[in-house]
Amino acid sequence: MKKKKLIAGNWKMNGGIAANDALVRAVVAGMGADAGCQVAVCAPAPYLAQVQMLRHGSALELGAQDVSRHEQGAYTGEVSAAMLKEFGVRFAIVGHSERRQYHGESDALVADKAKAALAHGITPIVCVGETLAEREAGQTEAVVKRQLAAVIHANGHCISEIAVAYEPVWAIGTGRTATPGQAQQVHAVLRAQLQAATAHSDRVAILYGGSMNAANAASLLAQPDIDGGLIGGASLKAADFLQIIAAAR
Ligand code: G3H
Repeated sequence: MKKKKLIAGNWKMNGGIAANDALVRAVVAGMGADAGCQVAVCAPAPYLAQVQMLRHGSALELGAQDVSRHEQGAYTGEVSAAMLKEFGVRFAIVGHSERRQYHGESDALVADKAKAALAHGITPIVCVGETLAEREAGQTEAVVKRQLAAVIHANGHCISEIAVAYEPVWAIGTGRTATPGQAQQVHAVLRAQLQAATAHSDRVAILYGGSMNAANAASLLAQPDIDGGLIGGASLKAADFLQIIAAAR
């Protein structure tokens, strides 16, 4: 049976009560009872409860944009996996390049966050990707393999329960998308790395992220190792997001 693709919207630090209400209602209505693929929206933490209520009874899944490496305790500002779980969160993005870049997140921290999510039955969407300088220096493969290796090393046999998102940093929010060929090349590298780590690597969805939109989604999603998308800007407009979902059927 063909594996269903996963389309996850990452709202980043966007939204508000009224805007979320309109967006989620439109997405749920447009998806219908069976979208033909898995669909999730990763909302900012304060809105998880709102989206959880809005999505109730639909096929739309809920995701968080981050998770603490800690279980509980004196960690001001952190949100634990157990807390996310209570709000029906199914996915948590970890290691997004914006967190690596602006919050100094290391490979080791990202690996711990993935572990914390897995311990509570939340699928971590582990983001990897090279900067433009790294690509131009011919380091793309080494960078993404190093980032994924840290998560594999820390998570052992649970590694088949993660999802991975390849997000070239130079393609995020820039309107400059990796070509399907460029993306496929890196996805194949990640697939091989996962195959070497687990006999159940076919369970791992490898998403592409970086200016995916209604116009380019179909050609990216047609690549053999692209199992879905992590969508930033285009997930904020219901019509665009629904077109990407349609392309993933
Ligand atoms: O998490 C999503 C990615 O960073 C892609 O963002 O679609 O706005 O380029 P973007």
